[in-house]
Amino acid sequence: MSSPAGAGAPSVTLEPVGKGNRAAILALELLPEQQGFVASNAESLAEARHDNEAIARAVVADGRVVGFLMYSVPEDEDEAIIYRFMIDRREQGRGFGRAAVSRVLEEIAGLARTRHVSICYEPENAAARRLYASFGFVENGLDEDGEMIAMLELGG
Ligand SMILES: CC(C)(COP(=O)(O)OP(=O)(O)OC[C@H]1O[C@@H](n2cnc3c(N)ncnc32)[C@H](O)[C@@H]1OP(=O)(O)O)[C@@H](O)C(=O)NCCC(=O)NCCS
Repeated sequence: MSSPAGAGAPSVTLEPVGKGNRAAILALELLPEQQGFVASNAESLAEARHDNEAIARAVVADGRVVGFLMYSVPEDEDEAIIYRFMIDRREQGRGFGRAAVSRVLEEIAGLARTRHVSICYEPENAAARRLYASFGFVENGLDEDGEMIAMLELGG
């Protein structure tokens, strides 16, 4: 059984979104059956432009943009919310998703006031459920949109 940041895990970095990686983020694709699991990156980047609290990151491996994620830490709250996460269809199954979750949790843990992390996904999204559960996220029930909310306590 693999650990969250298992030995031999591929190395990824999270990079801020900018001119140099925007086109590569927009070119990332999901499998057809995954398209209902997360908003398109075009929508997410458009949203991020108008939302000062949105923190958008390219997931980079071996110099390539392989994925994208977005989270926020609402003002005056001690919780970070990861609400977009995807790895390109051609790059899935190689450990990049797991490595990206490790990196974003490190980044969030480095923010002074953050004590919890929440993440949401469609209840039928078995890959996301297994991945997040392996980091200790505990399912908290469905929100009003029918999405599963899972929570992680940091530093526990
Ligand atoms: C979820 C997602 C990000 C995983 O990315 P990935 O790079 O393929 O993940 P990894 O290769 O690091 O695998 C990590 C874990 O995910 C789970 N997983 C990945 N693919 C899976 C599949 N087809 N079925 C079941 N579990 C799967 C496993 O638990 C795996 O752990 P393991 O290494 O112990 O087997 C990717 O499948 C994706 O982009 N899905 C579509 C978008 C989405 O669902 N986003 C999440 C909700 S916002």
